[in-house]
Amino acid sequence: MKQVTVVDHPLVQHKLTIMRDKDTSTASFRRLLREISHLLCYEATRELAMTTKTIETPLMEMEAPMIAGKKLVFASILRAGNGLLEGMLDLVPSARVAHVGLYRDPKTFEAVEYYFKAPEDLQNRLVIAVDPMLATANSAILAIEKLKERGAHNLRFVSLLAAPEGVKAFTDAHPDVPIITAAIDEKLNEKNYIIPGLGDAGDRMYGTK
Ligand code: URA
Repeated sequence: MKQVTVVDHPLVQHKLTIMRDKDTSTASFRRLLREISHLLCYEATRELAMTTKTIETPLMEMEAPMIAGKKLVFASILRAGNGLLEGMLDLVPSARVAHVGLYRDPKTFEAVEYYFKAPEDLQNRLVIAVDPMLATANSAILAIEKLKERGAHNLRFVSLLAAPEGVKAFTDAHPDVPIITAAIDEKLNEKNYIIPGLGDAGDRMYGTK
């Protein structure tokens, strides 16, 4: 898989534009994020290993394709990651789920861990980490480090929006982890918000401020 995939599908780009609009309601924002996450998940799982299974259709026996191996893991970087997670689980309901709780120190912008819970056998599974905004990438880099410490070595990172600075930092830190995103914006502002971006994804998703 390419190191960075921008999913420039018309449906994704159209929905993203509505999400960026400051007048879009919390309910619409949440629904659109869920819809886009289906399309991002579709891309992120494109190269899953396949096997076959013998089944009987009403007409005959056949060798039918199935996803091979252990159930995959979605790792949600709290809290905004949960907005992507829900849609991912719509498409892969049997996936296992990890939660990585990180917050941004408002002064240093460094990521600080406050929670980590993941399935035991990460080494045997594809792990797809999700966080809508890849800004400085501090949280994403730390989350992937934690997942690797727990054995994960087949990883992807899915975001809705990314900043060029975040993409560079992330790919420098984890060149083995492909990024799948809907757009790479212009830059970060002085508060490390993505410009033009969509604001604070968690706040817009949950109606907080
Ligand atoms: N996190 C957000 O929610 N928005 C940004 O623009 C950057 C980080």
